[in-house]
Amino acid sequence: MHENEILIYAKSWIKEAGERIKKSFQTTLNIETKSNANDLVTNIDKETEQFFITKINQQFPEHRILGEEGNGDELEELGGVVWIIDPIDGTMNFVHQQRNFAISIGIYENGVGKIGLIYDVVHDELYHAVKGKGAHFNDKALPKLNEVSVSEAIIGLNATWVTPNRRIDPLILGTLVRDVRGTRSYGSAAIEIAQVAAGRLDAYITMRLSPWDFAAGLILMEEVGGVSTTLKGEPIQILQQNSIFISKPGLHKSILENYLQGKEW
Ligand code: IPD
Ligand code: CA
Ligand code: CA
Ligand code: CA
Repeated sequence: MHENEILIYAKSWIKEAGERIKKSFQTTLNIETKSNANDLVTNIDKETEQFFITKINQQFPEHRILGEEGNGDELEELGGVVWIIDPIDGTMNFVHQQRNFAISIGIYENGVGKIGLIYDVVHDELYHAVKGKGAHFNDKALPKLNEVSVSEAIIGLNATWVTPNRRIDPLILGTLVRDVRGTRSYGSAAIEIAQVAAGRLDAYITMRLSPWDFAAGLILMEEVGGVSTTLKGEPIQILQQNSIFISKPGLHKSILENYLQGKEW
């Protein structure tokens, strides 16, 4: 795979798509709901996904595409080169705030993450990583992650998971919330993972994400020496929904051992 060539195209397309999204602030959005009343999708999510599909098909016809809005290919395995795309991660923020959303693209070759891009459109902040070549924030190299203790950590966590829910006993994460220095919730999984890679958050925990939410972020995390697993400490399955626990390395071990392992969920 020609990583450099693909990266150049991916970067220019992601910026172009970002410009188109910003122009859409001038227009009236067509907003629909998906699985429930708070699960939003707009014409711009769909048009942005289609924008990437058209570009990729023209330039790299042998590559396959998995997109959240379902206009790409139907994939059951990750053979060859696969682009995993979330055209707008944080649609609720896009609709309500016109900021704090991102375009997320993870490019995999035979199941191995090779190139990850997360573009915070309104802040014009691009995180990218190429396997073995490090991660960058607006083209500036990001350092390897350092160590932090639980009591000095800031973790990304949605309040849903410390209220009664179907996926985890709220006391488990509630106890962690009490012990850490602070929690943050940005409403875009891709941005939250990118913040961990950039050292602005120390960990991010959530009970369910889809491939397009984490595909790019996992590649960034690997390049800065972070640890990415499920909440049970198991490997993340790229083509499935997973619980996600990504963190600085020492902190990952402490939280896993002291808060998550050996508990009844
Ligand atoms: C959502 C966002 C949100 C996360 C949800 C995702 P979408 O993605 O990343 O932060 O909590 O689980 O589905 O639907 O806005 O692309
Ligand atoms: Ca969505
Ligand atoms: Ca998403
Ligand atoms: Ca989305």
